Amino acid sequence: MDVQDMGQDLEKVLLSKEQIDTRLTEMAAEIDADYAGRELLLVGVLRGAVMVMADLSRKIHLPIEMDWMAVSSYGSGTKSSGVVRILKDLDTDLHGRDVLIVEDIIDSGLTLSWLLANLRSRGPASVEIATLLRKPEAAKVAVDVRYVGFDIAPEFVVGYGLDYAERYRHLPFVGTLAPHVYGG
Ligand code: PRP
Repeated sequence: MDVQDMGQDLEKVLLSKEQIDTRLTEMAAEIDADYAGRELLLVGVLRGAVMVMADLSRKIHLPIEMDWMAVSSYGSGTKSSGVVRILKDLDTDLHGRDVLIVEDIIDSGLTLSWLLANLRSRGPASVEIATLLRKPEAAKVAVDVRYVGFDIAPEFVVGYGLDYAERYRHLPFVGTLAPHVYGG
C-alpha cells in the first residue's frame, strides 16, 4: 500500500519511508555502540511494532534474539488506562539479559511505563526502550526512553505498523488521515 492507494483518505505524509530508514540506521548505530560486546534481547510489542522491529533489527550488527509480547489496556475506548493486561507473554527468561523494548509509538506513556516496571521485576541486567515515534505533548507519565526516532505533534497517525481500526498498518510511511475517514 502506498500514497496512491490511499486516495482521498490521506491528509499528509508526515514521515517518508526514506526519513524512517535514515533514522533507523542512526538508531541502530547508537545501539551497536552502546551495547558493544553484549548480546541483546529485542522485545517487540505487538502489533504496531512489527515494522520497526523488522527494519531496526536488520540494521543492528550485534548478536540479537527477538521475543514478542502482546498487551491490552483495560478500560473503555482506545485510550490507554495504564492498567495493562498481558495477552501474550515472553517465552524468554529475562534473568541477566540486556533487554531492549521496541515500540512504534509512545503516546500517553502509560503502556510503556507499566511494561518497563513489569520487565524490570524479572531480574534482567538492563531494560531500555527504543521507539520510532513519541508524542511529548500527550505524555501523562514520564518514561525514560533511550532511543527515540521522532518526536511528533499529538495528531492521529497511521502507517508503518500504526493502524486506524486495524487498517493502514502496511503503509511504508507515517501519515495523517483525512478527517472524513474517522468522522472528524
Ligand atoms: C499502541 C503502541 C503502544 C501504545 C502506546 O498500541 O504500540 O503499545 O499504543 O500508547 P500509550 O503511550 O498511550 O500507552 P495499541 O494499543 O494501539 O495496539 P497495537 O500496537 O496492536 O496497534
